[in-house]
Amino acid sequence: MARPIERTVILLVDAARPEAEAIEAAARLVRAGRLVAFPTETVYGLGASALDAAGVAAVFRAKGRPPRNPLIVHVGDAAAARRVTAAWPESAGRLAERFWPGPLTLVLPRGSAVPDAVTGGGDTVAVRAPSHPVARALLAAAQLPIAAPSANRSQRLSPTRAEHVARDLFGRVALILDAGPSPGGMESTVVDLTTVPPRILRPGPILARDLGEEIGAVEGPPVFAARRGPPLKGPGMLRRHYAPRTRLDCAPTGEAATHAAEQAARGLRVALLTIGASPAVDEVRRVQMPADAVSYAARLYDVLHALDEEGLDRIVAELPPDEDAWAAVRDRLARASSAR
Ligand code: TXA
Ligand code: MG
Repeated sequence: MARPIERTVILLVDAARPEAEAIEAAARLVRAGRLVAFPTETVYGLGASALDAAGVAAVFRAKGRPPRNPLIVHVGDAAAARRVTAAWPESAGRLAERFWPGPLTLVLPRGSAVPDAVTGGGDTVAVRAPSHPVARALLAAAQLPIAAPSANRSQRLSPTRAEHVARDLFGRVALILDAGPSPGGMESTVVDLTTVPPRILRPGPILARDLGEEIGAVEGPPVFAARRGPPLKGPGMLRRHYAPRTRLDCAPTGEAATHAAEQAARGLRVALLTIGASPAVDEVRRVQMPADAVSYAARLYDVLHALDEEGLDRIVAELPPDEDAWAAVRDRLARASSAR
């Protein structure tokens, strides 16, 4: 594990009209191969020049990320995306036209300018044009594509606030641009356009049906098994990621309150995440989450970060309905609840 050695600076920036001096300072650091954490409309990213192999290697060290897990390259627009890809199929053009800038990542054949470090040595590259004004200003000022994973240590929750970034990465990053909470609160949809049919690799704010309207049927998303409670399911079915430190169990609506009550009766300190209003459960801290998927997604990581700080023994979450609109939330809850 790399020793924390950077003198991290945190700059407050206006989320709608970021101050030019702060953006210039960040752009200079990126051009010099240093690490800058910045807000996007989904979560905060940990950025380095996507054309600088040493800078990208520093991202992996700062995160403690396995080198084969590739990074998303952030660009200003489709023209910039074409400079880091080796092919730009019609499907990419349609999706970029409709959803960029925004929370959609396209996996495409990798351009020759992109170092191995970004793609994990693979022959595809993931590209996305973020819509957050701070990310856009940084990309415009740096005049470079910026490789950026979520700005958390590997296997931890993605950050939706600069405070979350600082907690994980203080001393490992040169600058954190703090523009307040990320509005979307959950990572972008990742769709692979190199397969037929295209395949959703990670569900997110752009739904399967949104993609389908532009490019026809898409496959996926992959479904992960959620942990309901002991005993654990066999490894291999489960993929822990996006996880709080506190153990999280998922249960269908109607069983979650009972599961939470059982844990509390064993003397554990338990929080129960309900979808919309629900009756109180004795000795259980109830957190009422929004009943619509977009608002729920915007709150989830923030709530999990806050519950982690409280040092509870268990978080129990009601599983949302198995519907397209809830696919991203279900995916993150399932991963967060997987065996560790
Ligand atoms: O919303 C987001 O996408 C945020 C913000 C910062 O843009 N970024 C983010 O990055 O979530 P990260 O590195 O935490 O997740 C990137 C995902 C991973 O699941 C990675 O495996 C996948 O994208 N990915 C990246 N490059 C890929 C490639 N060439 N082929 C397939 N999957 C790829
Ligand atoms: Mg991540």
